[in-house]
Amino acid sequence: MRRVAILALLGVLAAACVGKPPEVATGEEIYLQLCSNCHGDRLQGGLGPALGPGSNAATQPDQFMTLAITEGRGRMPSFSTTLTGAQVDRLVEYLREEQAE
Ligand code: HEC
Repeated sequence: MRRVAILALLGVLAAACVGKPPEVATGEEIYLQLCSNCHGDRLQGGLGPALGPGSNAATQPDQFMTLAITEGRGRMPSFSTTLTGAQVDRLVEYLREEQAE
């Protein structure tokens, strides 16, 4: 029973990692599709660290977030083949707006 639950969870995570958001998706849409299952739908953290106001990420330069997204980091997968450069920029802009609140 437990093994089934774990397999189901892995399936959900894998599906979330593979699906590409539409080219015109906003930063928020991209975040909710690809990031929220690990970082929380309000950036509060979960499997991955919090990214919102007061987090380590909030104190880092944009380049730090761009690198984490494109290269991956520890258990976080790389999104270099999932997202275009423009989408990564929109995503970082969205995180900055949320961190400023
Ligand atoms: C499968 C789970 C998972 C997904 C999906 C995921 N992350 Fe992560 N993320 C992590 C984990 C775990 C870490 C911590 C890695 C480490 O430092 O070992 C992390 C770290 C980060 C960091 C660095 C935070 C810090 O303070 O060190 C940023 C920024 C980040 N993620 C942004 C994102 C964004 C944006 C997305 C969506 C494109 C995303 N992540 C998707 C799991 C995930």
